Amino acid sequence: MNVPDFDFICSFIRQEAAIVLERGKEYLVESRLQTLARKESIASIDVLIQQVRTAPKGPLARKVVDAMTTNETSFFRDIHPFETLKKTILPELIAKRGTDKQFNIWCGAASTGQEIYSMLMLINEHLPELLTWNFKFVATDLCQDVLAKSKLGRYNQLEVNRGLPAAMLVKYFTRTGSDWEVREDLRRRVDFKEMNLVKDWLPLPQLDIVMLRNVLIYFDVESKKAILAKIRRLLRPGGYLFLGGAETTFNVDDAFERVMFDKTTCYRVKKG
Ligand SMILES: C[S@@+](CC[C@H](N)C(=O)[O-])C[C@H]1O[C@@H](n2cnc3c(N)ncnc32)[C@H](O)[C@@H]1O
Repeated sequence: MNVPDFDFICSFIRQEAAIVLERGKEYLVESRLQTLARKESIASIDVLIQQVRTAPKGPLARKVVDAMTTNETSFFRDIHPFETLKKTILPELIAKRGTDKQFNIWCGAASTGQEIYSMLMLINEHLPELLTWNFKFVATDLCQDVLAKSKLGRYNQLEVNRGLPAAMLVKYFTRTGSDWEVREDLRRRVDFKEMNLVKDWLPLPQLDIVMLRNVLIYFDVESKKAILAKIRRLLRPGGYLFLGGAETTFNVDDAFERVMFDKTTCYRVKKG
């Protein structure tokens, strides 16, 4: 790929998804575009890029953005946040919200769904009374392919082997061919929607828990600031934000305070 094409793709992706790609990532960009070109029966990545230049709002351009996202995820990823949710945060919030019995969780970069289904299984397993409340589970992502997969809730053996306890696999999944499918009653509880964090947001309810893990890391500071400011306005008093292990609000939005529980770091809006 020549330098002008690489620079064009970098600025296009930054504009459309805030994902920062810099010099040195040529190999990554090229290999992902090559895969897409093959899938779309396009002769070469030069031709593909030319088509994106001509129609930057078209369906192919959209697929280029999706192809540049990194969708790595797994069930109960990093385990500690889920332990803390189970032992401390959810019981604390259940006690606080006992009068209105409203509870809303949003996964803002849900990828193929393992994170939101982990939350749902955890709640079903340990705090099932929450599911009798006025409860919303919203999972959003920019990438259409991963959203489609998360809605289906179908995972291969390798995927269920990553982080999912065997007892939960047996209890919450059914076998379909060589894959495993999340039970329909669980899938129905989640509202999966397409949403780009750096464009207009869909209406979201006031939130008790925000999971926004392993996505801010790809963005420039201005985009991080804008996203955190929106989250601040959506979090209910006492609500918690979870970021990925390499992400922080520190020096980005200091209206948040860091809260540590054992090995878990999460964030709350400072009082006052
Ligand atoms: C590495 S995955 C993280 C998945 C999950 N949160 C976890 O921690 O396991 C990052 C996800 O962010 C999504 N993403 C990237 N840029 C985005 C944007 N601008 N708006 C919404 N989602 C985005 C990608 O499509 C991808 O599925």
